[in-house]
Amino acid sequence: MSSLDLSPDEFRRWGQTAIDSIAEYLAAVAERPLYPRTSSKEIRQQLGRELGKEGASFSELLETFNEVIVPLTRKNGHPRMFGYVQSPGAPLGVLADLLASGINANLTAWRSAPSPIDLERLTIDWLKQILGVDPGAAGLFVSGGSMANLSGLAVARVAKAGPDLKTRGTQSHPRALTLYASVEAHHSIAKAASLLGIGSDNVRQIPVDQNFKMNIDRLRDSIARDVADGHQPFCVVASAGTVATGAIDPLGEIAHVAREFGLWMHVDACYGGFARMAPSVSRLFTGLAEADSIALDPHKWLYAPMDCGCILYRNPVAARQTFAHDAEYTRVIAQEADEAFAFWDYGPELSRRFRALKVWMILKGAGTAVLSEAIEGNIACARYLEELVKASDDFEMLAPVELSIFCFRYLPRTLREKDRRGDSAIGEELNQVNERLLVALQRDGSSYLSNALIDNQFALRGCVLNYRTTTQDMEILLQDLRRVAATLE
Ligand SMILES: Cc1ncc(COP(=O)(O)O)c(C=O)c1O
Repeated sequence: MSSLDLSPDEFRRWGQTAIDSIAEYLAAVAERPLYPRTSSKEIRQQLGRELGKEGASFSELLETFNEVIVPLTRKNGHPRMFGYVQSPGAPLGVLADLLASGINANLTAWRSAPSPIDLERLTIDWLKQILGVDPGAAGLFVSGGSMANLSGLAVARVAKAGPDLKTRGTQSHPRALTLYASVEAHHSIAKAASLLGIGSDNVRQIPVDQNFKMNIDRLRDSIARDVADGHQPFCVVASAGTVATGAIDPLGEIAHVAREFGLWMHVDACYGGFARMAPSVSRLFTGLAEADSIALDPHKWLYAPMDCGCILYRNPVAARQTFAHDAEYTRVIAQEADEAFAFWDYGPELSRRFRALKVWMILKGAGTAVLSEAIEGNIACARYLEELVKASDDFEMLAPVELSIFCFRYLPRTLREKDRRGDSAIGEELNQVNERLLVALQRDGSSYLSNALIDNQFALRGCVLNYRTTTQDMEILLQDLRRVAATLE
């Protein structure tokens, strides 16, 4: 390759081979080992270290993709990829990303990308409908859930501590700002608090009940204590689907407390939000519409490829008060309101890629009925696994299944017998056995789980987030665990 540009013919030809390799990858994703047996040393050797003065051919570049990158990475589209909160990356979204890069739209303001900006506003309106929030709400796509949480808390801070904070900084504020989230909240909340100068020590970790949902009495006590101590409680964060167990906090009750104490209510719905489309759990989202801000992640349960998070604000004016900054190069000259619109007034970024295209294509291309069925199907898989575990004597559940996350552990026969004889406390041994089992399962490559700590017990944790996953995969998961466990005994 000797130039940066490609002729239309070259683009077509090379593009077709690139698309062919993605198609082959997708067609075989369920058959490939889910996790590679490799090392960083091997990968670095295979990548080669030379930056050449002369360009390499496209077939050489694609060969590296096909022969090194694809085999030596985790297969996130595999139906038994249950680790973390991982979307498979729906093919429609893959094509949308290609098209978006093709026109290289930059969604700063309407004048820079008129049709992409209107498509993003339309798509955000659809997400609002899906979540049942106020039609007057507004929002934008960001890189992911961590950025969405950061944006929501940034707005909460200015809205509750006053506009001086923007110019004079948190250190000029007379009282410590305090924020409330359950002990189960995602770590991006504490991270946002430290980045925003609130301090992670000022995030009060509210205990949860036996279903891992925020304890409302303890929330109220904690806020009242801070008020008495002269602090300024400003925000409560509710989780709509915690990362460890999938619990949805009591949103309506939290909204009530937020109103009572004049706090901003932010909901981290990054994992669970789109499950509002699933009829069997939609009632759990009552109260969501009362939130002042909601963080979402289309690159989780809308099955979009990385990356795409989203933040919604009930009152967009509050977001402008936080993010709008004047500069000559961003001044919008002589335009009507719709055309004068700029996303930089509502979020932390200026240049932004065209993330809306993949969300729009997935929503419009698949339709809400298919999406709702897929999400409901994922929840059904998690419930089925729970049934299988409860009916077995070599596994036990460690938390109830609320959405599509399941937490359980393996009980080897020797430890069961020890426990029955009352020989000794087996808790620590069980933790060790399950930790070893998890690592061995991940290396085995047929199923992939991650871990969680549930009441100090090491849990095998899975999250069903792939429309390709079936109840048979849940059976295979338990078979894989038994097979791998036998090799460790
Ligand atoms: C509940 C919750 N919030 C926030 C995040 C952070 O999202 P992201 O990884 O997109 O930054 C996650 C990620 O798993 C999550 O589960």
